[in-house]
Amino acid sequence: MKKVGVALLGLGTVGGGTYRILRDMHDDIMATDGIDIEIRHILEKDTAKVEALGVDPDIVSTDINNVVNDPEIKVVAEFFGGIEPARSFLIAALKAGKSIVTANKEMFSKCWSDLEAAAREGGGGLYFEASCVGGVPVIRALTSSMQGNRINSIMGIVNGTTNFILTKMADEGLEYADVLKEAQRLGYAEANPSADVDGFDSMYKLSILSTLCFHKKVPLDKIYREGISKISKVDIEYGKRFGYTLKLLAIGKCVDGKIEARVHPAFILENNPLASVKGSFNAVLINGNNVGDIMLYGRGAGDLPTGSAIVSDIVYAAAQTEHMRFPYGEAEADAFADDFTSEYYVRMTVEDKAGVLAKVATAFGKYGVSINSVQQQADEGKASIIFMIHRTAESKINKAIAEIKSLNEVISVDSLIRVM
Ligand code: NDP
Ligand code: HSE
Repeated sequence: MKKVGVALLGLGTVGGGTYRILRDMHDDIMATDGIDIEIRHILEKDTAKVEALGVDPDIVSTDINNVVNDPEIKVVAEFFGGIEPARSFLIAALKAGKSIVTANKEMFSKCWSDLEAAAREGGGGLYFEASCVGGVPVIRALTSSMQGNRINSIMGIVNGTTNFILTKMADEGLEYADVLKEAQRLGYAEANPSADVDGFDSMYKLSILSTLCFHKKVPLDKIYREGISKISKVDIEYGKRFGYTLKLLAIGKCVDGKIEARVHPAFILENNPLASVKGSFNAVLINGNNVGDIMLYGRGAGDLPTGSAIVSDIVYAAAQTEHMRFPYGEAEADAFADDFTSEYYVRMTVEDKAGVLAKVATAFGKYGVSINSVQQQADEGKASIIFMIHRTAESKINKAIAEIKSLNEVISVDSLIRVM
């Protein structure tokens, strides 16, 4: 029987879930994988969390030296969140020859190269299944199950909090702020919820996933990012009338050798498989040149789903004699597409006067932006107009919208949402 010592950094939502799974599944893992996992040390500041889980206080401290200097600890699993001290602690562990497991996508997407260098120095491995799409084994699918493919695209709902919020807004007509509070209570939201609602969390995950898909570093500054904080219930309602569901999507594509990576809300048709992904569930659609489409679906956040991915990585790291390396170099600047195309939904409020619609249509036409349909609703001297726009380049519609905003009769351009 192989005995493997493990350290857990953090005992919050993910750390707590991981602790409970390791405790409750210990004998099953021994029976199925032949590995006897011993939790030898835990770093946690909050004694209440330690007591609540009934952890032996003798194995808890806040000093990373207790982990780094214990030769029996082979795997260090981190769920502190944030960059520091997570980054420094994991680099110290790697340099001491340990493997690391992390759920911390912000730190991993920003510090992957540093961690890779330290892993090569110490000989341990990097495991980060829980950093992307919670309990769904998407990293393992990309690294170990799709070698016979060139990946054309990856598209998905990779943030549980925003999907939970958009689902509740659409299905129950609830207000954004109330739903966010519920997501926080359930442990889905990041410490700073802006990371979720402004699309940062999805961007970190897309950087990691698209790097694995396209075998080139996809840095954060090459990813277009827009969150859901400006989405209003009105747009969700209008979308429904057109047969659309609103989702925050992460999209990575490689077209003619150019990588396109973006995170933004999008209307998708109600019969799109991603439309039925609700609540904190996530789903990822991967297209490989030989296998075609693969869809992975499951819980993207929460203590036990994320703990499930962490425990899988711990067992995997403990079982390996040779660890996977990630030799991805920096992509050349011209490896990335500088524009993309989409269909669009545009909602604006204008003065209800003769000739206004014509002026707006002229501005769209000036930039080659073609209107598919128009709906107008007038009320007390103002009109709300919704344009559905044929596929066009993002650069063109942005120029058209800038000109439309400058028209005296246009009170506001309220929403511009991409339609898939
Ligand atoms: P929590 O805030 O619930 O847990 C973090 C824990 O680590 C807290 O108990 C915190 O203590 C403790 N901690 C932080 N820094 C230190 C330190 N230097 N020494 C000792 N203890 C420390 O966060 P989550 O569990 O929700 O998230 C953790 C990570 O997992 C994040 O990177 C997140 O992005 C990622 N993740 C989260 C998921 C989720 O569903 N929640 C899903 C997938 C990934 P204190 O509170 O006292 O600061
Ligand atoms: N805050 C993240 C989410 C946690 O809601 O998806 C899982 O990564």
